[in-house]
Parts: sequence; C-alpha cells; structure tokens
Amino acid sequence: MSVVVLISGRGSNLRALIEAGLPVRAAISNEPGAPGLAHAAAAGIPARAVAHRDFATREAFEAALARAVDEYAPRLVALAGFMRVLTAGFVARYAGRLMNIHPSLLPAFPGLDTHRRALAAGVKVHGCTVHFVTAELDRGPIIVQAAVAVRPDDTEETLAARVLREEHRIYPLAVRWFLEDRLELADGVVRVRGGDAQAYFACGA
Ligand code: GRF
Repeated sequence: MSVVVLISGRGSNLRALIEAGLPVRAAISNEPGAPGLAHAAAAGIPARAVAHRDFATREAFEAALARAVDEYAPRLVALAGFMRVLTAGFVARYAGRLMNIHPSLLPAFPGLDTHRRALAAGVKVHGCTVHFVTAELDRGPIIVQAAVAVRPDDTEETLAARVLREEHRIYPLAVRWFLEDRLELADGVVRVRGGDAQAYFACGA
C-alpha cells in the first residue's frame, strides 16, 4: 500500500503527502542537493538521490531510477515537482499507478512557467491539477483540480503561492483515493467512487 515520491527541488508537495499521514516509503530525487529530501529525512523516511547527470543516456538514468523505486515495491509512484521528462518506456512500466501534480488547470498551460503564462493570457481562473501520467507531457487523465481566482494585482509569486496552497490540499486527496481503490478510469476519464465526488473540483481563495 505504499507510495514512492519523486522530486527535484523544494518538496513542499512531498511534505504535504507526509503530513497527511499517507504511507510514503521513500523520496527519490534526480538532484542530489534537492532541499525537499530533508522533509523525508525529518520524518524518518528514506531520502535518496539518483542523479541523472551520472548517466550517459535518459534510458540508463531511468533504469537506475526504476531499480531504486522498485526496491520499495510501491503501489503508487507520485511525481511531485520532478523535473525530468520521462520516456514512454518508464511511463508504461508504471502505467495506471504514476501520478503527477501540475500547477495549472490542465489542459490549459502544460509545461513550464504556468503562472507567468496564465497572467500573460489574462485568465481569470487558474489552479492546479492532479492527473495520471501518460507518455504525452501533462496530458494524462485528470483526477482532481482546484481553482483559484486571479486577482488584478496578482504577481507570478502571489498567484503561485495561492495555487500551491491548493496543491497541498488536492494531492493528498488524490493519493488517498487511489490507495482506497476509488479511482476508476474509463475512456481517459477518471471517476471517483464514493461520497465526496464533488471534491473533483475544489474552489480555493
Ligand atoms: C509544484 O508547483 C508542482 O505543481 C510542480 O512543481 C512544483 C513543485 O513544488 N510540478 P514542490 O517541490 O512540491 O514544493
């Protein structure tokens, strides 16, 4: 019933998953210096690095990463600010049990710099998405989203901070649903079995 979390940096979503009491068995970073590894270490959870720079090819890096992940035989692999693009091979290995959190209301703004791009586009509602990972970047089946209103005086930083608060709320929710076997995927659409289906969509500040 365990979860392995892959990170690259700050690790605030990793911390949110740990603090929600979810069974995080290990945190693995492709950046050995990722500050977020400290959140796992502080909770007595193995915190490891598999440095992509140590490998000549993406495939060799991913093979080492998969070996490290599989040591914990996780039910779910949760990407939380993991900044390496994964090959179709890696995604297929964890098909249906690989999740990601993305800081936009997908399918809007896949990729990087989502908050800056949302402000530049003048959208009035922004937010975050937890989705299953497929080979196509930031395009997998959506599990849960949270929206925040964009304020006229928002900067990239203020908007990012409000979205991040929602990320910390919805990622634990999605992981819990998965571990409780409540996520049902049909034709690329996720349904949540059980009572709180209205929580697919959550409206923040
Ligand atoms: C978050 O905004 C997440 O949505 C994105 O990368 C950021 C990671 O933040 N994928 P943190 O490392 O969890 O603090």
